[in-house]
Amino acid sequence: MAVEYRVGIIGCGRRPGPGPDGRMRGGGIAENHAKGYEAHGRTRIVAAADISKENLESFQERHNVPVGYLDYREMLAKEHLDIVSICTWVGLHSQICVETANSKPKGILCEKPMALTLPEADAMLDACRRNHVKFTIDHQRRLGRPFGLAKELLQAGRIGELLRLEGYVPGGNLLDWGTHWIDMFFFYQDQAPVEWVMAMADRQTDRSLFGVEVEDHSITHYQFRDGVRASIELGVPIKGQPANRLIGSEGMIEVGVTNGPNVRVRGRGDRDWEVPDMPEGIHGAVHFASSVAELVAAIEEHRDPRNSGANGRQALEVILAGYESIYRRAQIALPLEITDNPISRLIAAWRAS
Ligand SMILES: NC(=O)c1ccc[n+]([C@@H]2O[C@H](COP(=O)([O-])OP(=O)(O)OC[C@H]3O[C@@H](n4cnc5c(N)ncnc54)[C@H](O)[C@@H]3O)[C@@H](O)[C@H]2O)c1
Repeated sequence: MAVEYRVGIIGCGRRPGPGPDGRMRGGGIAENHAKGYEAHGRTRIVAAADISKENLESFQERHNVPVGYLDYREMLAKEHLDIVSICTWVGLHSQICVETANSKPKGILCEKPMALTLPEADAMLDACRRNHVKFTIDHQRRLGRPFGLAKELLQAGRIGELLRLEGYVPGGNLLDWGTHWIDMFFFYQDQAPVEWVMAMADRQTDRSLFGVEVEDHSITHYQFRDGVRASIELGVPIKGQPANRLIGSEGMIEVGVTNGPNVRVRGRGDRDWEVPDMPEGIHGAVHFASSVAELVAAIEEHRDPRNSGANGRQALEVILAGYESIYRRAQIALPLEITDNPISRLIAAWRAS
């Protein structure tokens, strides 16, 4: 008989529906995890935990979850879970992940960004390794078909030698959204190591997201050890730029073109873009279902998931190097040696200036 996996969710998220201002808003990210487990067929959410009774009960009701806990530790101790989703804000990821790994599930699916510091990330990796837990950081887009197609076109030599990667995110910041494109660039680059990072940022507001104060606008520029350059601009909207651009010696590929196709490719001498058939978009719930399926496959095939914790750490290191570069106004060499989170130093410096 096919194995059925007992799943527990930590951090059920805000309820979808009208917010305090009456406008409709989506639910928390646990909503997408739940849909992923529901779509899988061999995973069953048997329990959920949240410190907010309201968020917990409304999640249980929407997803038919029989048991709820206000303390995730109690859930871990009682439920003999096979898979645990960690859907809280970033500041809690490390502590919850370590405790969850020590309860020895088969797999953990933890939201991005991985953690606030490298020692936190290392503690997560270490706890999962010690307890033989397959560990995913939810960079779900890496499993998406448009990005996979871009990589196939690259590997097929359609744009010659890769020289440069660009990423754009209107409204995003380096920590929360930058993590997706930094991870994606590692995907295109087969996890090639990064040599240095140089970044710049501006903050005019008192913006914070998921409990972390962040910049309004940043540009992060970095170099892989194989000489490929990458740059990611986040925050202030920019006209006419795709989500990802891969520039090669013989052409370029664009992914997520604003008001345009999901993927397009053009050789150096071509007059027009070639637009391969790619109905799947670059956002959407389908990628979360892929994260669930990938974690189950990794458990059954005794391998790491493609969006593994180790890959999550690589992205975090570039992010932290970016903030350190902004703080020191200098290029930062990797491996990164700092053990704290430079964002708090940076915010203090901005406040003092
Ligand atoms: N992968 C993606 O594309 C993607 C998209 C959006 C958000 N996220 C990430 O998901 C995470 C959560 O975002 P969200 O929008 O769901 O936030 P949210 O605020 O809607 O949900 C967080 C939930 O965690 C609960 N919580 C807080 N402390 C807890 C504790 N100690 N134990 C149990 N529950 C606790 C809160 O009560 C809340 O219900 C963030 O890290 C965010 O970056 C990822």
